[in-house]
Amino acid sequence: MLQVQGLDAWYDRSHVVQGLSFEVKAGEIVTLMGRNGAGKTSTLRAIMGLMSKRAGSVRFDGHDILALPAHARWHLGLAYVPEERRIVPGLTVRENLRLGLIAGSERGMEAERIAGIAQTFPRLAERMNQEGTSLSGGEQQMLAIARAMMARPRLILLDEPSEGIMPLLVHEMFELFRRMKRQGTTLVLVEQNVERALQISDRAYILDQGRIVHHGAAEELLADREIQERYCAV
Ligand SMILES: Nc1ncnc2c1ncn2[C@@H]1O[C@H](COP(=O)(O)OP(=O)(O)OP(=O)(O)O)[C@@H](O)[C@H]1O
Ligand SMILES: [Mg+2]
Repeated sequence: MLQVQGLDAWYDRSHVVQGLSFEVKAGEIVTLMGRNGAGKTSTLRAIMGLMSKRAGSVRFDGHDILALPAHARWHLGLAYVPEERRIVPGLTVRENLRLGLIAGSERGMEAERIAGIAQTFPRLAERMNQEGTSLSGGEQQMLAIARAMMARPRLILLDEPSEGIMPLLVHEMFELFRRMKRQGTTLVLVEQNVERALQISDRAYILDQGRIVHHGAAEELLADREIQERYCAV
């Protein structure tokens, strides 16, 4: 579904993603792991067209998407939840969700999509008319994920979704990811919470200094303490 080949990306002259290749098959959960500064966020941003200087090949469902403008990816069914949640101040939960619809083409779907979200996220259902930024950090993260799901993506990239969230909500969130997978959504997770991420993943790739240094089945990496300590210590 997603094929990344020889991806490079830069911040000015700083070459932060260096010839990275990996793939994600339909229906998988794939985790990208690695230390702070390894290039995980930059990789997701490059895939989403948000790094101004990027090179290589990114194919999604057979389309070469590297050079497309950022918004065009959402129309193809690719969604992204950045690390900073970007809940819009002054808008309610419902209004924030509405922003997740792909403008114009999906206007008629709003009620049905919001009803679906309310079922999946009972915490949000109870708070639809509350201001989005008044939610707790964990609830705001749920809202950011729900907003991305409003576009009914087939593949969703999630950057550190469990960061700074209390354990009970983290548990709920990982259960949600399992459910999304069962319902046919493909997920790419960037996580510091390596153990939990591997427990729900099919495969994982380890990044170090902008390159893939290791990849394997999630079970295999879960059992490999040495690799975890070497590349994933925070
Ligand atoms: N806006 C920026 N301008 C310049 N350099 C940046 C910028 N953002 C990130 N970098 C650098 O790019 C490199 C990769 O950063 P990136 O954010 O992709 O890492 P990461 O693996 O997501 O780390 P973390 O686990 O801390 O989120 C780092 O050396 C970082 O300092
Ligand atoms: Mg990051």
